[in-house]
Amino acid sequence: MSDLTGIRTPFYLYDLDLLKKTVSIASAEARRFGYFIHYAIKANNDPVISSIIRDNGLGADCVSGNEVQKSLEYGFPNSTIVYAGVGKTDEEIKLALAEEIFCLNCESAEELDVIKEIARLYGMKARVALRVNPAIEADTHRNITTGLDENKFGISLPHLKNALDICSNSEEIEFTGLHFHIGSQITSLGPYRRLCEKVNNIWREFDITAYGGSMLNLGGGFGIDYNDPEHNSIPDFKSFFEVFKRYLKLPAGTDVRFELGRSLVGQCGRIVTRVLYTKKGVGKKFVITDAGMTELMRPSLYQARHHIINTTSTGRTEKYDVVGPVCESTDVFGKDVVLPETVRGDIIHILSCGAYAGSMTLNFNLRDRAPAVYESGGRILSHNEINDLRGFGSVLMP
Ligand code: LLP
Repeated sequence: MSDLTGIRTPFYLYDLDLLKKTVSIASAEARRFGYFIHYAIKANNDPVISSIIRDNGLGADCVSGNEVQKSLEYGFPNSTIVYAGVGKTDEEIKLALAEEIFCLNCESAEELDVIKEIARLYGMKARVALRVNPAIEADTHRNITTGLDENKFGISLPHLKNALDICSNSEEIEFTGLHFHIGSQITSLGPYRRLCEKVNNIWREFDITAYGGSMLNLGGGFGIDYNDPEHNSIPDFKSFFEVFKRYLKLPAGTDVRFELGRSLVGQCGRIVTRVLYTKKGVGKKFVITDAGMTELMRPSLYQARHHIINTTSTGRTEKYDVVGPVCESTDVFGKDVVLPETVRGDIIHILSCGAYAGSMTLNFNLRDRAPAVYESGGRILSHNEINDLRGFGSVLMP
């Protein structure tokens, strides 16, 4: 690992070699079955990360107009961009139509009406997939399931027929097929097998082919190993895609797609932070770092645990609560974390921070935004090398 001592903390450190390896394995495994992957840019919208993914031929999966705009800026072809979201504004829908993206993943009959109206106004045809809420348990944290009746996402089955009929009766809509996403950080394959069975039934029962549907987007959600990231840094994409190959029973030639986020980028990033203080509490010790929930919100929001290591000390171990400096009691990275005896100035790494860390930063307490640092071949990349990777020439970055 590179020498990081001179760099101002906290920062996100991205291992570009691991990223490239992960993306290339995922792409190769998907290609075996003719599947296409859209990168869920919400997981990490960093320009260098996104550009490497673009260079591997993946499309983009967006959930806001700004993400659509950014994906285009990053060079994802418009024909590879999909856009989901329960609350698309009129401006965002207009943008998606004007940029002629691959399709809007529509989440309600009410939204279909608005898309129709905007398309009519502009004399355009809107390519639309219907996002279906399949009412499937994803076996993950309650706050990151998306495919249950209680979730706001997608069109629930009792309303699907109506939505399909709106599509087929509307000049302005070109129906492409169905979209699903059942949740995130799903680490077993059972939920995906159940999803396939559900999709097969829905396709048959609603006769999706008769409505002109030939595309199936199964979303993302494949999880990573937060407990042992150093030994298990690349998810088992082979087994993941094989489940779909084995259990999906759809008409030959169906265009099958995925929207992977965390599984592609989660393990390539870590937060590098410095210990400001070690403080004695009552019956416990705190390690206070210069990174906080503003740089990584997951532990505060979902009680997520990230592996934490002290890369400076090697002494005998103790238990610490590792906390940030932010004015919130939930600004805690981990309780009872076993670390070598830790002192002010030590460098701490919080692992598995490539997904939903940098893209979920908060400006709370008017904290500075932590920068990104990129590593490849065991050394930190220079600005010029970074600009080359982005593919925009060397003038854009300071
Ligand atoms: N497609 C759709 C429609 C989604 O809503 C999501 C994630 C994805 C794809 C990508 O899912 P992935 O492959 O990354 O699991 N902030 C939470 C995760 C929220 C995920 C929301 N949707 C976390 O930090 O765990």
